[in-house]
Formats: sequence, C-alpha cells, structure tokens
Amino acid sequence: MSKARLYSGMQPSADSLQIGNYIGALMQWRDLQESYDAYFSVVDLHALTQPNDPSELREKTRRTAAQYIAAGIEPAKSTLYVQSHVPAHAELAWILGTLTGFGEAGRMTQFKDKSSRYGQDATSVGLFTYPVLMAADILLYQTAVVPVGDDQKQHIELTRDIAERFNARYGETFRVPMPMIQQESARIYDLQNPVAKMSKSAETDAGVLWLLDEPSKSAKKVMRAVTDSEGSVRYDRENKPGVSNLLVIYAALTGRQIPSIEDEYAGRGYGDFKKGLADVVVSEFEPVRNRALELLDDPAELDRVLAANAGRAETVAMETLGTVYDRMGL
Ligand code: ADP
Ligand code: NA
Repeated sequence: MSKARLYSGMQPSADSLQIGNYIGALMQWRDLQESYDAYFSVVDLHALTQPNDPSELREKTRRTAAQYIAAGIEPAKSTLYVQSHVPAHAELAWILGTLTGFGEAGRMTQFKDKSSRYGQDATSVGLFTYPVLMAADILLYQTAVVPVGDDQKQHIELTRDIAERFNARYGETFRVPMPMIQQESARIYDLQNPVAKMSKSAETDAGVLWLLDEPSKSAKKVMRAVTDSEGSVRYDRENKPGVSNLLVIYAALTGRQIPSIEDEYAGRGYGDFKKGLADVVVSEFEPVRNRALELLDDPAELDRVLAANAGRAETVAMETLGTVYDRMGL
C-alpha cells in the first residue's frame, strides 16, 4: 500500500530558524518522513505578505531549505521544495479564492491579529487571502495529514470546508485533509520572557536560540536565561515558566523524560543545570549548523536539489490542477 501524503512548510522569514522551529517542527518532520509520503516546502509566496528585500528573500529561502536538510529532512525521501518554483500553488489559490466567502475569510483570527498590528496601510489583500493560498498548498497534493501548530488549526478547518465545497459542487476532486496538531508540551518559549512563544520574527534576540548561531553564543544565552529565585530544578509551568521551558528543551533534545532530568539535578543549583543544558544544545546544534553551512557553501548544488524536488512536486500538483480546470470548465 502506498504511504499517506503529508504536507507542511515554513516561511523563509529569517536568516536562521530558531530552536522552537527545530523542536516543534523539524524533529517531528524528520520522524514523519519515514511513515508518510512527505512534502515539505519553503513557503516564499506566503512570505510576501510582509515587506522583503528581493535578494534577502532569495537568501533566506535558500538558508531555510539548507536547514531543513541539515536537520535531517532527506530530499531523496521527502519532497523538499520552494513553493514559488511550482506555479500551480498560485493558480489553485486564485480558483479556491472564488469559492471562499469574504466573511468566512474575515473570521480568521490570525488575519485579525496581524492586520490590527500592521495597521490598514500595511495590510495587503495577500495577507487576507493567505489562508486560501495555504489551502491550495495542501489540496494540490491530495494531502491526508498536515502537522501544524495550534495557531493554524482554524486555517486547516477552512481548507477542509473549501475542499468539501469544491467536491460537492464539481465532484470528488480533493482529499479532505486532517490536521495533526502539535502537542502543547512541544512549545518553546523565549528565554528572556518565558511566557511568550519563541519566534524567528521576535523583536529582541537575547531570548532566541538560533540554529545557525555560533554554538558558544547559544551556550551563553542558555546561561543567561531567566529563571526564578527558588533554586530548584522543577517543572511548574505556572510558577516557574523559565525553568520549565529549559526542562522542556532539555527533554526534547535528549529524548529523556522531565522527571529523570529533575532527579539528576536535585539539590544542585541552576548554574549546573544550565551548564548541562548548554552542552546538550551545543552538541545538538553543532552538526546541524556545520551541515547547513556546508550546503550553503555550494549554492549551485543546493539549487539543483531544490529544482529536482520542485519537479517532483510539480508533477503531482499539475495532475490535481488539471482535474480542477477540467471540472470547472476552464
Ligand atoms: P516563527 O514564529 O518562528 O516564525 P512559524 O510561525 O513560521 O515560526 O512556524 C514554523 C513552524 O515552527 C510551525 O510548525 C510552528 O508550529 C513551529 N514553531 C514555531 N515556533 C515554535 C515554538 N516556539 N515552539 C514550538 N514550535 C514552534
Ligand atoms: Na512567524
């Protein structure tokens, strides 16, 4: 039996990914690619909803792809490609936009949040139709499962509604995908403000662990992470968000259970614990960083891999798009 298809992606919105992207997405993708026919894209068309310098965008796209590969996404096993290399995404997005209600799109909470932050002048129509492009990304590949963060749940529901609507109107065409929601426990918070989600678009740098930073810099950031005055290494999200966040990172990177880490550091101070975690972070990141830098040293080869993968994606995408055109009278 052929493997079920899985789709996920990230925006190339920074020079480096951060440890939340690694733990919350890449580590899981790496496992999922074994049991699914996985598509992982760098969604550069989505990134256009924020201002970008063209040469910087191209570079961020390459760097993001290099980090996928360095983290263990294998381009021979998974289809790892750049969204804009497959024009069918934009074509299907237009079509699906004609099946999406204005009011329906207006209920998306991410749009409401972002547009109120950007203000009316910086809010584009593209930001409004972002979830429709996301629906096109997913539906083009007859995707069964979409691993996403909690914040994307509403967009997957919209994708399902659009797929069902199309199928009802024009005949069975799209597979209706299921979300695979990231566990709450895999969420990583800012080291300096451990109640805010760590993000590659964070405004301050001190609390973010970048995959491509010098390992010694990451170690320093761990040593300076905010904790509390209690002095005991104990998981308590509500009262000890800083220490709890560090424990989650420790557990995720080592595959250990939190109680076993608490036991190891019982009766020892935060200094020891942070030193232990800094070692864990450095030994996890160092090979990933080296591999990513190696890939970026040979952009022609990286581009060749991405082009070959885009070719594979395009074959599948064009089959779906062809059916859509046919059913709609285009
Ligand atoms: P960012 O906020 O860093 O720009 P995105 O919103 O582009 O990240 O998300 C990319 C992927 O990384 C998603 O799968 C998302 O769930 C995951 N992710 C992002 N930040 C974190 C985090 N702090 N903890 C866990 N997973 C995260
Ligand atoms: Na972001």
